[in-house]
Amino acid sequence: MKILVTGGAGYIGSHTCVALLEHGWDVVAVDNLLNSSRESIKRVERITGGRIHFYQIDILNKPALANIFRQHKIDAVIHFAGLKAVGESVEIPFQYYHNNITGTLILLDVMKENNVRHLVFSSSATVYGDPDRLPIQEDSRLCATNPYGRTKLFIEEILKDIHSSDNSWNFALLRYFNPVGAHETGQIGEDPLGPPNNLLPYIAQVAVGRMPHLNIFGNDYDTPDGTGIRDYIHVVDLADGHLKALSKIFTNPGIAVYNLGSGRGHSVMEMLHAFEKACEKKIPFKIAPRRPGDVASCYADPSKAEKELGWKALKSIDDMCKDTWNWQRINPNGYK
Ligand code: NAD
Ligand code: UD1
Repeated sequence: MKILVTGGAGYIGSHTCVALLEHGWDVVAVDNLLNSSRESIKRVERITGGRIHFYQIDILNKPALANIFRQHKIDAVIHFAGLKAVGESVEIPFQYYHNNITGTLILLDVMKENNVRHLVFSSSATVYGDPDRLPIQEDSRLCATNPYGRTKLFIEEILKDIHSSDNSWNFALLRYFNPVGAHETGQIGEDPLGPPNNLLPYIAQVAVGRMPHLNIFGNDYDTPDGTGIRDYIHVVDLADGHLKALSKIFTNPGIAVYNLGSGRGHSVMEMLHAFEKACEKKIPFKIAPRRPGDVASCYADPSKAEKELGWKALKSIDDMCKDTWNWQRINPNGYK
């Protein structure tokens, strides 16, 4: 099998490339390197001893994308390429809608022209907004609360409409909860541009001395210790979920939506303590006001993925913190 990975140099894309190569599949990766580095591709090749056919292109560039489909006989696409910062999406919504939605439409058009009909799409738990019940099941109410979330929701709807009109398409829509961690070698990991928005990368940068302290956004939520609860999932488990989703759409055609989460909720305080254990130091923190738009608790019911894909998250928050710390310690400045 030859798999095209869009956004293959990024955080989840690079870990998925490792899993694909280790599975013995051929990997073609495209990325405009807007939020990533070519170094991650080199390191994936070093970890696996495999080779990635890498192209630095923008998926908005249809002729360049079409050229890749001419050069390679692609069997399926895993589509990670997209912009993902919630706050930024509120500032520059046009760029988010254009990049994420137009980019996906162009990709689908080129796939159709080349009769490639299998796609795994990176959606997000953000499509549930403020969840109507916990744990969150795939049929829970959908309600994105910001432009980034709406790009995911709209793309999901587009894929459903395309499948309704032509059932030769096969789609897996994967709603990730909170991806964290890094490959156990410490060679690839999350390398945010500028100050991190998300909890674990922020804690890791405090631990390595790049940030003075963590701001905990609110300790007055209706949770056992007052801090926000999320469903953290190790990126290596998440990468494995993509292989399982591909196998599913190859053998059981159609469209399906899956939550990829651990099914367990952990508070900010719990994550902080788990990280302190992993790095064997105290992480200074301050209690700050709540972050606008945050919800108190969010965690998945991942039983559908277990039942239908034979997938479940195996790694614990201790593994997540150990591997994040290993990556950050070895690469204090990321790939730079
Ligand atoms: P990332 O930014 O590390 O990876 C995305 C990659 O896509 C980057 O390498 C970027 O350079 C590339 N890219 C963006 N626009 C492109 C374009 N037009 N053409 C070519 N390449 C382009 O992000 P990630 O954390 O690996 O996320 C991957 C996907 O998963 C994204 O779609 C994201 O929205 C989704 N997702 C991520 C999370 C998370 O917390 N990391 C959670 C839920 C969903
Ligand atoms: C973020 C995104 C969401 C995305 C999800 C998964 C926002 C507003 N939402 O949500 O769209 O789907 O990541 O990657 O960015 N926290 C702190 N201090 C920090 C950072 C975070 O206390 O410096 C807290 C938050 O308030 C929250 C928890 O840590 O309770 C997790 O935050 P974060 O990692 O940003 O993930 P989400 O809030 O789930």
